[in-house]
Amino acid sequence: MTDDHAESVVRRDRFSGGPAREFLSSLSADERIFAADLAVDRAHVVMLAEEGIVAAEDAGAILDALADIERAGHGALPDGEDVHEAIETAVIERVGPTGGRMHTARSRNDEVAACLRYRLREDVLGTVETVVGARATLLDAAGEHTETVMPGYTHLQPAQPTTVAHWLCSYEGALARDTERLLDAYGRLNRSPLGGAAFAGTPFEVDRERTAELLGFDGLVENAMDAVSARDFLVETTAAVAGLGTTLSGLAEDSVLFANKGYLTLADEYASTSSIMPQKKNPDTLELVRGRVGDATAGLDGLLTTLKGLPRAYNRDLQRASGHAFDAIDSVTAATEVAVGALTTAEWETDALDSAAGEGFSTATGVADLLAQAGVPFRTAHEVVAQAAERADGTPSVETLDATAETVLGEPLSAVVDIDALRRVLDPAGSVASRDSRGGSAPETVAAHLDRTKSTLDDHRSTLVTHHESLEDAHQKRDTAVSNYV
Ligand code: ARG
Repeated sequence: MTDDHAESVVRRDRFSGGPAREFLSSLSADERIFAADLAVDRAHVVMLAEEGIVAAEDAGAILDALADIERAGHGALPDGEDVHEAIETAVIERVGPTGGRMHTARSRNDEVAACLRYRLREDVLGTVETVVGARATLLDAAGEHTETVMPGYTHLQPAQPTTVAHWLCSYEGALARDTERLLDAYGRLNRSPLGGAAFAGTPFEVDRERTAELLGFDGLVENAMDAVSARDFLVETTAAVAGLGTTLSGLAEDSVLFANKGYLTLADEYASTSSIMPQKKNPDTLELVRGRVGDATAGLDGLLTTLKGLPRAYNRDLQRASGHAFDAIDSVTAATEVAVGALTTAEWETDALDSAAGEGFSTATGVADLLAQAGVPFRTAHEVVAQAAERADGTPSVETLDATAETVLGEPLSAVVDIDALRRVLDPAGSVASRDSRGGSAPETVAAHLDRTKSTLDDHRSTLVTHHESLEDAHQKRDTAVSNYV
């Protein structure tokens, strides 16, 4: 059978040429999946040819047209309801009705799901790369500040002294889990819905594993109805990104606070000034990092609201879902770079940190710990220190502590603890050094943590490399397969 008789094959405007045409169209937003759609088209056409569903010669003509369309770019596409339709029209414009064979044994429903997964994979890897880089930077900074004491807070009140390195590592640890959540989401994102067709499969003998292989997907979303309906890959990716944004917002808020207290001076390039107050140096970059978490949580909310209660199988609401995920990932990835850039170019004001580290008798717990280590029940030790704090109105002297011990314990402090040891824990640096339990703030403890955590970071880096390689591998396979027909 020839295709010459089929004159007016492009009749899809039957129902979508009316006043709602623009409302229906996702063509401009689909620029993000233009390259993905070309990859999906190529994999599908190669498979159709390999299975003898489309003649090799027709496949060659279609693949040639796709290369030409790629060169012309998204902006040169003919009008269409979406990128899938526009590319098909562009193929038919180039090769005639034979181009219409490209859409054999598929639907835009499985096609768009494949494109979104294909594109989002790259985005997730890009975000992971950014977060991994940010973590490396934080760890480097931590390595320089294991001895830089600073105040630690609970309820925003001075609580115990800690170090800048310990604080930095607390955020690196959170970012490591954010990384893991993204990588975990990647595993489920990276499966192929292609071949599901509209939702019920197809009478053609499609080889779904082959298209998955050509697109670098690690397996299938097997059930065809699930394949076209599922958008949980958007949900979990956006949720992971919202979690990342939340981590960053804490880091930004702490940094704004430290700038306010004079502990941290931002580099000029990460600060803004006021249009009226000439003396101002404002931490706007960090405030925007803090603010951007709103983009991500809004995206997650928008996405879940769009998806809630949708019936099986495909519904056009789904066209509104992916934008939430893409916007969230863009916003938070940019925030990651800025947050870490601002923080690691800033100057830690060690004198201010040093004198603030002991403020509010932040070494009190260490004194109670010392008494408890000497055998005093912790609650009694707590009482000794609490009473001394009340008497002293600030950090009590050794003498005041001694007098309080007489009252509460009935014996002088020197009978219970070594006074030199007491002086050591009353000093913020000594207090920090005493907290050497695993994960604690003591300099050597943090140094040991840094060694372990760098190896976790290396693991994440090599996972990234593996994923990139397998995508590159699929790209090569696709090119090779395409070259058999063009
Ligand atoms: N542009 C649509 C989307 O992004 C895909 C097209 C499926 N359309 C349809 N009427 N079945 O979801």
